[in-house]
Amino acid sequence: MKVTVVGAGAVGASCAEYIAMKNFASEVVLVDIKEGFAEGKAMDLMQCASLNGFDTKITGSTSDYSKTAGSDVAVITSGIPRKPGMTREELIGINAGIVKSVSTSLLEHSPNVIIIVVSNPMDTMAYLVHKTTGLPKNRIIGMGGALDSARFKYRLSEALACPTSDVDGMVIAAHSDKGMLPLTRMATRNGVPVSNFLSEERLNQVAEDTKVGGATLTGLLGTSAWYAPGAAVSTIVQAIACDQKKMIPCSVMLDGEYGLKDICMGAPVIIGKGGVEKIVEIELTAAEKAKLMDSAEAVRTVNGML
Ligand code: LAC
Repeated sequence: MKVTVVGAGAVGASCAEYIAMKNFASEVVLVDIKEGFAEGKAMDLMQCASLNGFDTKITGSTSDYSKTAGSDVAVITSGIPRKPGMTREELIGINAGIVKSVSTSLLEHSPNVIIIVVSNPMDTMAYLVHKTTGLPKNRIIGMGGALDSARFKYRLSEALACPTSDVDGMVIAAHSDKGMLPLTRMATRNGVPVSNFLSEERLNQVAEDTKVGGATLTGLLGTSAWYAPGAAVSTIVQAIACDQKKMIPCSVMLDGEYGLKDICMGAPVIIGKGGVEKIVEIELTAAEKAKLMDSAEAVRTVNGML
């Protein structure tokens, strides 16, 4: 499998690193507009190969998309990241132009590519890639839910004082501070609902901490996070490469599912070699449905700014 990662900043480089470390891809091409930057990151990462024991070949290119030709999967991380105090939605002006031109260039050289969108505001950028490329909905995946669910499991493990491998849970809806919907009702510790161990108040706190997961890190780091976003992308790419049929919450074009149409938003999806192979509809309570609809309304407002 050949994977292109556009944007060799912290998120893009982390994606490339985690993909290589998992050793399922034959090739990763990093692309960046900054002269020599992607080449430098690729060389640094390749010098880890003998140390970390991976065979994936990582190369870099300064805006030369011919090097990405024949990619099976492409990850778009390009654009500006959040600064402390900024919402993801505030990035739309600059990032929309970048995401549009990047997705067009990718398709020119890789007509069969599956595109994973990381750039923010992620749900709107995934929607923009749809509108720009006209690709079928199985081939455009926004990675937000995979990341937000990992952050949810981290917060759950913290509240339960247990390892993250003990907990399971999902976050659906928008990848935004207000719009995320951590499904606390369905979260479990080894199959036991977490409400057996945690009070409603503590669970609400877990949900709130999850929703501002990205903002909390931006406040601490002075810029957007990269390790967990990179790891979340690598999980999706691996599910495609290894045809895992793994259920991962991702931002996908909805066409009637959850009562929503013509919007990209986080829902549980089955990921395999075809990209999004199925959108899973789960039964939600009236309160959860209302939150999902509010979240969709907010995404539509941002989509309207395109
Ligand atoms: C975050 C960015 C990737 O949540 O949206 O860290």
